[in-house]
Amino acid sequence: MTAGYTIRRISKDDYEGVIDTLKVLTVVGDVSRRRFEEIVDHWDAVYLHGTSTRQYNPLVVVEDATGQIAATGNIILERKLIHDAGLCGHIEDIAVSKSHQGKRLGKFLIDRLTQLGFEAGCYKIILDCDPKNVPFYEKCGYSKAGIEMQIRR
Ligand code: ACO
Repeated sequence: MTAGYTIRRISKDDYEGVIDTLKVLTVVGDVSRRRFEEIVDHWDAVYLHGTSTRQYNPLVVVEDATGQIAATGNIILERKLIHDAGLCGHIEDIAVSKSHQGKRLGKFLIDRLTQLGFEAGCYKIILDCDPKNVPFYEKCGYSKAGIEMQIRR
C-alpha cells in the first residue's frame, strides 16, 4: 500500500467523499445522503446464501493525513449454477480522485478487490472498461476476454 493511505470498507460517513470521487468516473446524479446511507445499509446486509461472505464489498482508500477519500471501488460476488455452482466476481465503479491519481492507489485497490474475490472462492473475476484503461488493468494482471455489449434506455 502507498505510504500515508489506508484501505477499508465504505461506511455511511463517507457520503461526500465517495460521491465526489466517483465524479471522475461518470455522472453520479442526484443521490441524497439518506439514499447513500440506505444503499450502504443494503450492501452491508446482503450475504451469500448460507455463508458469512458479503455479496457487496465496497472499499475506500483514505489519505491518513487529511481523512480525504482518495479512491473507491467494489467487487460484487455472483452465485452461479455453472462451474459447480461457482462464484463469479464483478469489479465495478473504480475511481481514483484526480489529485491522487498516479500514486499506485488504483493498482492497490484492484489488487485488494481481486484478493477478496479469490479468497471468497471466485473461479473468475471480470470487469468492463474503456479501451484507454486496458494498460492499467493489464498491469493489475487482467487480460482481454470477449467483447462488452449493452442496451440502454
Ligand atoms: N494507461 C496506461 N497505463 C496506466 C493508465 C492508463 N490509462 N493508468 C494507470 N496506468 C499505469 C500506471 O502508469 C502504473 O504503471 P507502473 O506500475 O508501471 O508505474 C500502473 O498502471 C498503476 O497505476 P496507478 O497509479 O495505480 O493508477 P491510478 O491510481 O491513477 O488509477 C485509474 C488508475 C483507476 C484508471 C484512475 O486513473 C481513474 O480513476 N480514472 C478515472 C476513472 C476510471 O476510468 N475508472 C476505471 C473505470 S473501469 C471500472 O470501473 C471497472
